Amino acid sequence: MLTLGIETSCDETGVSVTDGKRVLSNIVSSSVHLHKKYGGVVPEIASRYHVEYIIEALDSALEKSGKGALKNIKLIAVTSGPGLVGSLLTGISLAKALSYSLEIPIVGVSHILAHLYSAFLNDDERPEFPFVGMVASGGHTALFYCEDIGVQALLGQTQDDAVGEAYDKVAKILKLGYPGGPVIERMARASKGKNRVVFPRAYLDKDSLDFSFSGIKTAVLYYVQNIHNTLYSIPNTQISDICYAFQESVLDVLVQKAFLAAKKRDVKRIVMGGGVAINSRLRKKFSDASRFEGISVHFPKKEFCMDNAAMVGALGEELYKKGYRSDLFLSAEPNLGVN
Ligand code: KG4
Ligand code: ZN
Repeated sequence: MLTLGIETSCDETGVSVTDGKRVLSNIVSSSVHLHKKYGGVVPEIASRYHVEYIIEALDSALEKSGKGALKNIKLIAVTSGPGLVGSLLTGISLAKALSYSLEIPIVGVSHILAHLYSAFLNDDERPEFPFVGMVASGGHTALFYCEDIGVQALLGQTQDDAVGEAYDKVAKILKLGYPGGPVIERMARASKGKNRVVFPRAYLDKDSLDFSFSGIKTAVLYYVQNIHNTLYSIPNTQISDICYAFQESVLDVLVQKAFLAAKKRDVKRIVMGGGVAINSRLRKKFSDASRFEGISVHFPKKEFCMDNAAMVGALGEELYKKGYRSDLFLSAEPNLGVN
């Protein structure tokens, strides 16, 4: 079933054409370069970028798919939340206009669930149910028990900052620019003084499946302020050591809690999703733990970790086949949660 996916929840304008789990095109146009100087996403700039580029992204997605005209599309799947309201409304407005004019159905999709099931876009075999799913992104850090596509229960989530947000805030403290994830990963890899700096791990209660990442950001801030008492600028080598220590701290918590959740629910599979799941050190730590615990870990392809429309289109089609429908009253749900 040819499905048009539309994703505009934050700073990526995404349009895709999918057919089941086959991705025929996946256009992502990011406004991240416009937000860099502000150190984070400016909602109005993101919305205006979507308005300016979404038709271009639609045309490219149709052309690259090799399926030509809009009339061949049988379903529209669009992110309806959570996200920035002005940004969401751009994608939803386009989706509704297309649905109305082409007389084809429309399905609103949760951005968090689209990340959660993005590993299903892999060409090789799909992860079997049940599994524990983890979404680690700039906006969310959450664990789910998944029984089937669209049938999941929230097991725990962050009580403050998301893990990607912690990367972004720590990068800001270290004056490394935005977004923080890629640059911190790179700096951490270059560290020659591994374990010269150590930050605490926020495990919360021993049994808890919730997360807290605001403390680590404050720990980095105090550490940096302390250095500034004696040094005007911090040498790059030391910044690398700080990045390494920060990254180890947050990734250890993700690994420990994901495997704790799998053991508690007695499942043998963990499925990752979200922008932070692109991180190579995260993948190594999960793979090491996987061998040790005898629990398999599935990752999305790197191209489907960050915000993209293919994950929205593919999940939308699955949900449609299960009977989910939206209508032209579909609206943005900026705080859309999952239970
Ligand atoms: O999933 P995503 O594209 O957007 C949200 O739904 O939030 O994730 C963006 C987040 C940002 O916080 C960014 O710093 C983080 O993913 N990120 C990374 C890496 N690349 C992007 N975090 C760790 N390591 C990376 N290599
Ligand atoms: Zn996202």
